[in-house]
Amino acid sequence: MSTSSTENHEPECSADASGRTGLSAWRALHSHAEAMRGVTLQKLFDADPERCGALALETPGLYADFAKNRINGETLELLFDLAEQCGLRQKIAAMFEGQKINVSEDRAVLHTALRAPREARILVDGVNVVPEVHQVLDKMAAFATNLRNGQWTGHTGQRIRNVINVGIGGSDLGPRMACQALRAFSDRGLRLEFVSNVDGAEFTEATRDMDPAQTLFIISSKSWHTLETLTNAATAREWILSGLGGDNSAIARHFVAVSTNTHGVTEFGIDPENMFGFWDWVGGRYSIDSAVGLSLMVAIGPENFTEMLGGFHDVDEHFRTAPLGRNIPVIMGLVSVWYNNFLGAASQAILPYSHYLAHFPAYLQQLEMESNGKHVTGSGEQVDQQTGQVIWGEPGTNGQHAFYQLLHQGTKLVPCDFIAVIEPLSDLGHQHDLLAANVFAQAEGLAFGRTAAQLREAGSPKDQIPHRICKGNQPSTTLLLDRLDPRSLGTLIALYEHKVFTEGVIWDVDSFDQWGVELGKLLAGTIAEELTADEVPSMDHDASTAELVRRYRSGRGR
Ligand code: F6P
Repeated sequence: MSTSSTENHEPECSADASGRTGLSAWRALHSHAEAMRGVTLQKLFDADPERCGALALETPGLYADFAKNRINGETLELLFDLAEQCGLRQKIAAMFEGQKINVSEDRAVLHTALRAPREARILVDGVNVVPEVHQVLDKMAAFATNLRNGQWTGHTGQRIRNVINVGIGGSDLGPRMACQALRAFSDRGLRLEFVSNVDGAEFTEATRDMDPAQTLFIISSKSWHTLETLTNAATAREWILSGLGGDNSAIARHFVAVSTNTHGVTEFGIDPENMFGFWDWVGGRYSIDSAVGLSLMVAIGPENFTEMLGGFHDVDEHFRTAPLGRNIPVIMGLVSVWYNNFLGAASQAILPYSHYLAHFPAYLQQLEMESNGKHVTGSGEQVDQQTGQVIWGEPGTNGQHAFYQLLHQGTKLVPCDFIAVIEPLSDLGHQHDLLAANVFAQAEGLAFGRTAAQLREAGSPKDQIPHRICKGNQPSTTLLLDRLDPRSLGTLIALYEHKVFTEGVIWDVDSFDQWGVELGKLLAGTIAEELTADEVPSMDHDASTAELVRRYRSGRGR
């Protein structure tokens, strides 16, 4: 295979002459990074017995340990200087005040209003949005309660036993992740399923043992334009109608919608009475606290949902008011910038030691990568530094037996976030203690490794010593939760939301648009027509894509 370089990917925008790399704090961080290159975590710990206390912060229900990061007091001071020079504090205030900081879409960014208390006042274009937020929350609570207690029945009068959330991206990942995270708090008499992929296999598998008479669909799409969701919604309608004798009036008992698009919802055939609205100032990936969380509220009940909002709000207040040096999400964001831009890390691993948090890395992938995977500044100029963390991960201990080898002995710098829980929700024998032992051991092992001297002392055969050495110095942050419950889940998610915000400010990008996703949608629309056309279409593709289309058509007998 041969490749040739192409100019096609040159951005049509000028480099920002006043870019971040020109800031004095940026340059100082570069010099500091040079000085820190040879400084290992072992040296940092040896040099400062107070290090652990100095680099740990607490918020109710959560302890954040930053000590195993390749930072010292000077690193943090320089990062705080950078934050000041980038106007982080003013930008935090601007977000909370409802200013239109999503510049490319000219929208406010107010997911924080979704968890504001009833008496709060937050203005968008002169209108206080908090009463509307609580109206929707109340409507969701009434619906969820009726569904959970059996008052809401299906078309034939049977109780609803299955709830299927149909949505994708932000209209799927949040509730999917949180329903798993809070399974221990959920009504076990209700089966929750999620269908997102346009691959019909997901719908088929989700519904295969279900009785349509006992099944309710929540069709969740902010725009009501998303191909995958509208396709699955149409399939769901067919499934319900064919299962319930084709009576169109069944739709009203088996479908509710979550959207900002009343027109689209009504056209689909869902009564606007059964629609739960939200607003253009809620980004999809920041929407779990809006009506997008309806499936979660159905699963865990309105009270638990309110508790979760409380956890979010606590962190909002912390982020808004705590000084930079005591501000956990600010430090998470700045430490991430430190690795990404000054120490050359290409990715970050999210490693929750909780089966309940299995979907958390995938949730964070959208939150982080859709938010900060950008190549221009808010004013449309080419950025002059790296943006966007590549996020990946799996729950421990499973990951230990898959990819941790690379973390321990590979050649790449991969900062890790370990998430651990003190009090178990499921305590079989001493399994939870073993889980906790593993997470602490991994963070320790990655940081300090194993030297040749230690191996010799332990009696390792001489010829194996080079293979067994673990150099350590792989950095990590540990977030230790008292327990995993609705409130602490809210805390955890909000920390990452604001971490991503902090990074976006430093990188000077619009963290709230996602224009890049549109290209794939556009191209897929054209190709879908070519794949299904009766006649061989004339195609305007590169040779590789055209051949794939031809082969697919021929394989499908077209
Ligand atoms: O992937 C692009 C995207 O627009 C996401 O930002 C969004 O969460 C997802 O599609 C789903 O969009 P919608 O809720 O409008 O169907």
